[in-house]
Amino acid sequence: MRPQNDNGKREKILAAVEAALERYGARREELIPILSDINRTLGYLPPEALNEVSKRLKEPHSQVMSVASFYQMLSTKPRGKHVVQFCESAPCHVVGGREVWEALQEHLHLEAGETSPDGQWTLITVSCLGLCSVGPVIVVDEDVYGNVTPERVPEILARYR
Ligand code: FES
Repeated sequence: MRPQNDNGKREKILAAVEAALERYGARREELIPILSDINRTLGYLPPEALNEVSKRLKEPHSQVMSVASFYQMLSTKPRGKHVVQFCESAPCHVVGGREVWEALQEHLHLEAGETSPDGQWTLITVSCLGLCSVGPVIVVDEDVYGNVTPERVPEILARYR
């Protein structure tokens, strides 16, 4: 028999899968929105969720896994409470993105893809978010910030502490 905690965790995972399937329908073509929805609910995509999605969509596990690992917005590892996405594409880079990136690393003490030991922050790089006209751009959780300067970084991060 599984320990109580494991059962609770599994139930939570299955409930997140169920909710995503209800929202989008158990259809293969909805694989990306389904995985995004589960990722949003749980903070990442645990193996149990990927197995369940593969089973319910009758989609090979390898295919589900390759989508889960391909998209930067999805994660197969637990992420921090707050996820900071930094646009690393060229248009943002040329208007000061590099300095913003350095400020983010300095304040969070993280490299790309890392999560802080206290579980508060995850820092990731992403490709163009389609907001180049207001670059450099960062996204914290669901909040988008444009025209970011290194000086604004501590003030932006402080909103989430
Ligand atoms: Fe950063 Fe387009 S290059 S939003």
